[in-house]
Amino acid sequence: MYQSSDLKTDGFLATSRTDRWWFEPLWTGLGFLSFVVYTTWAMFQGDNYWWSAGQDGFGGYLSPFYSPLIFVKEAVNGSAPLDHAWFGRWPEWWPALIPASPAILILAGPLSFRMTCYYYRKFYYRAYFMTPPACAVGGLRPKKYKGETALLVFQNLHRFTLYIALGFVVILTYDGILSLFRGGKLGFGVGSFILIVNPILLAGYTFGCHAFRHLTGGNKDCFTCPNGKPTFRYRVWRGVSWLNGRHMFWAWISMLWVAFSDIYVRMVASGQWIDLNTWGN
Ligand code: FES
Repeated sequence: MYQSSDLKTDGFLATSRTDRWWFEPLWTGLGFLSFVVYTTWAMFQGDNYWWSAGQDGFGGYLSPFYSPLIFVKEAVNGSAPLDHAWFGRWPEWWPALIPASPAILILAGPLSFRMTCYYYRKFYYRAYFMTPPACAVGGLRPKKYKGETALLVFQNLHRFTLYIALGFVVILTYDGILSLFRGGKLGFGVGSFILIVNPILLAGYTFGCHAFRHLTGGNKDCFTCPNGKPTFRYRVWRGVSWLNGRHMFWAWISMLWVAFSDIYVRMVASGQWIDLNTWGN
């Protein structure tokens, strides 16, 4: 137990702490960096994001990095059929210098939600900006640091990016249902399991958001008024609060799983892995 008078935080990394305080900023910093590197690579590929064993009709596995499909470029390995795109064929005006990848069109949405999340801010302020790297550890002290009132003012958009994230939960749930069909025939495969778990984990993260918690109960003074009984809204708020208390867990598990979902679809679509399923292909 530290008394505030025991703490020495004058100077970069100065501390009286004797525990492994550096471990958390290290693993979170490296973990997120790996995710960003992989996501950027996958985003620019523009191929192997869809698998339906060559069968037409309703159903197939779609990588969550590529969903929703706004446009589809045809005649690309592992690309989705044209009728899965919201607006059809890839536009001719697309600049030749930028890869024709559907992921480029949509990844800013979920990314804006994660990058402004209160938990993510905590870890990247610590791991990357070192302001400070941990509690009771001396950090970098920029002379004119104005935090979220100046350079980082965009962080305040988080409450609006929540609606984008809610939209993605709906879209990816639809993709989970899509994964239960192949050529219109109902079945189940390892990919179905992965793509159904994906929106569940994302929902755990999204519904535990601080902004969502405020939406469900933050503007209420009394949950049991007027008749003294807990209201439905109170129960929802309790559920959201339970998720909120474990927000870090949901943030990481949903992020890792969404990357794993892309890897799985990519490997199956490129013929590297075999999908075990009830369709027999
Ligand atoms: S605070 Fe983390 S998602 Fe909103």
